[in-house]
Amino acid sequence: MNRGLKESIGDELDGLREARTYKRFNVLTSTQGPVVEMEGRGEVVVLSSNNYLGLAEHPEVVRAGIDGLERYGAGTASVRFICGTFEPHLELERKLAELSGTEAALSYVSCWNANEAVIPTLTDPTTVILTDELNHASIIDAVRLSRPAQKVIYPHSDMTALRDALVAAPRDARKLIVTDGVFSMEGDLAKLPEIAELAREHEAVVIVDDSHGVGVLGETGRGVIEHFGLLGEIDVLTGTLGKALGGAAGGYVAASEEVCDLLAQRSRPQLFSNALPPTVACSALRAIELMLEQPELLARLRENTATFRTMLVEAGYQPLDGEAAIIPIIVGETAKAMALSERLLDEGVFVTGFGYPVVPEGTARIRVQMSAALELEHLERAIEAFKRVHAV
Ligand SMILES: Cc1ncc(COP(=O)(O)O)c(C=O)c1O
Repeated sequence: MNRGLKESIGDELDGLREARTYKRFNVLTSTQGPVVEMEGRGEVVVLSSNNYLGLAEHPEVVRAGIDGLERYGAGTASVRFICGTFEPHLELERKLAELSGTEAALSYVSCWNANEAVIPTLTDPTTVILTDELNHASIIDAVRLSRPAQKVIYPHSDMTALRDALVAAPRDARKLIVTDGVFSMEGDLAKLPEIAELAREHEAVVIVDDSHGVGVLGETGRGVIEHFGLLGEIDVLTGTLGKALGGAAGGYVAASEEVCDLLAQRSRPQLFSNALPPTVACSALRAIELMLEQPELLARLRENTATFRTMLVEAGYQPLDGEAAIIPIIVGETAKAMALSERLLDEGVFVTGFGYPVVPEGTARIRVQMSAALELEHLERAIEAFKRVHAV
């Protein structure tokens, strides 16, 4: 190995350790659930997974994956258009389109890939991309890859700034407004009714990444678009199968037939990378069915979120407001967030701390996430730990 590179990387890593921002992996030896077995720690309560509906270890989701594995083998061994399309891909995509209220859907191995597929593919030489400053990293990178004629990063949810940018954009430009549905670090919702209205006025296209909204928001769990009564009115939705919808991996774009067809023809993650393993498609399909068949899962998630918010406030914490299942607690400096997360882990509660550069400097936080799988007993165990570390 190149010695200079090894040394300079070593220095960089030492810097992270000194700043106490070095992230280490906690190894789980059980399924992902309300509690997990963590190497060296024993049983801990999980308040930091995206397992919103508790489906990651659901026996029927697991069974569907095993059946898919036995029927179709380990994976596609190919990209979609060469010889990597299996029946479960098409079934899953039909279900995702139905869920999203769109004509079609196309799966990817992650929502990261879905964003990196759709934004560059829809960008032509005239395009102006208007993107919220707090959008997910995958959107930021996708916009960079797109090389639009112009990029406008508008202040978080600032509809006046978005309107001004739309007014200033050339009349003939293709305008893409890109936003998270639920902002992953804040837990707040995009102002979708206003965004949709501005898009109508200015003939812009709206792309919503609802990774943290699907399976969480809306009467039937269809996400932020259903929450605001806008099903069928948003041009492009991207989402993940790695959170509420089974928790394995995978992502998708839901949109018109034409958009999905063009993505299948042109988007690079679709053309140059293996397709979603059929076993994952089978699990995700069952997860969506379970969400729709068992509305009590959504009800329990919402009840847990409301209960734990109240518990936190009563324990002296000031979580950010929000309607999703993300409950951030701002602590300031990155090292402080990391230390708090570590102390909670010592107390048997797994909550991750986030600092710069994931969130702006000075706004480091711990991010609590709720799950339908958590029982009251877990919430009570967790809040006792929060009280103990608050007292220190
Ligand atoms: C808003 C948002 N978009 C995209 C992603 C990436 O999803 P995936 O894990 O499917 O790549 C995430 C995951 O953290 C996310 O929060």
